[in-house]
Amino acid sequence: MREDQATGLKRTAIKGNTEIVLCSGGKGGVGKSVLSANLALALAQFEKRVLLFDADVGFANDELLLGVSVPRTLKDYLKGKVDLEDVIVPTRYGIWLLSGGMDVEDILAFSFESKHRLVSDFLRVVSKMDYVVVDTPAGFSEHLRGFFDAADHIFVVTTPEATSLMNTYTYLKYLVLNGFEPEYYLVVNMVRNIEEGKKTAERLKQVLQRFVGLELSGVYILRYDNVVKSSVITQKPFVSEKVSGQPYFAIMRAAASIVKAEYKERISFFERVKRLFGVG
Ligand SMILES: Nc1ncnc2c1ncn2[C@@H]1O[C@H](COP(=O)(O)OP(=O)(O)OP(=O)(O)O)[C@@H](O)[C@H]1O
Ligand SMILES: [Mg+2]
Repeated sequence: MREDQATGLKRTAIKGNTEIVLCSGGKGGVGKSVLSANLALALAQFEKRVLLFDADVGFANDELLLGVSVPRTLKDYLKGKVDLEDVIVPTRYGIWLLSGGMDVEDILAFSFESKHRLVSDFLRVVSKMDYVVVDTPAGFSEHLRGFFDAADHIFVVTTPEATSLMNTYTYLKYLVLNGFEPEYYLVVNMVRNIEEGKKTAERLKQVLQRFVGLELSGVYILRYDNVVKSSVITQKPFVSEKVSGQPYFAIMRAAASIVKAEYKERISFFERVKRLFGVG
């Protein structure tokens, strides 16, 4: 890419101010995908343009949660079969969905050229978005390092069980020690008793402050709720269903805090997108 082209893209992207929100967690099955899909919809309710990127390899979590079927995935694009725009599908919920649809080995197998093409195309597409919400697999994945680098906000989901909390502490410590500097948020999910959930979250928050030097930007408690369970079964995200229920308001509060969060100027957006795909 020529220098002037790069500068042009950079300018557009900076003007776009697209923010990247990662939904992650140290363990499987804690609610990362449920959070991703519903947070994306909540952000859309603040009249934001949102792309939900299912970066969890091997399984189409977000397609199932939204009840949409995606005819093409990122893999088809990388094979040169279709344009990136053809892979990003609008949904009836007013957000767009991009499905990874591949294994880690698949991503690594693509050439530098195709990844480079992905960077400029991804930049063009996401610069039209206000937020890109990324649903990640459990733990830290090296092939997603670029996303961790580029993230403006990282939500870390845990359950209130002691093992999950320990795991979350270790996971957050790992991210902080590796120099990732987004705004961090803690989500304690599937809590049976809200007051106990709050106490648990407060304890973890203090331990993180004291031993990791981490100041969380927000803590959200999500009750274990049959509305959430059945929304997964009926493939209708609960945020789109009814303006009620503890999980709904918790997710809306989380979205509100992102929307109000100040835009933190770090390295340029163009550089961050390049890093996403390992060509930075
Ligand atoms: N607040 C909640 N109340 C009730 N059930 C919940 C809640 N959150 C999640 N679940 C249930 O837990 C299941 C797992 O959630 P989800 O798929 O979001 O986890 P995950 O962390 O993305 O898992 P994986 O690591 O496999 O990707 C959901 O299918 C849903 O049934
Ligand atoms: Mg998932």
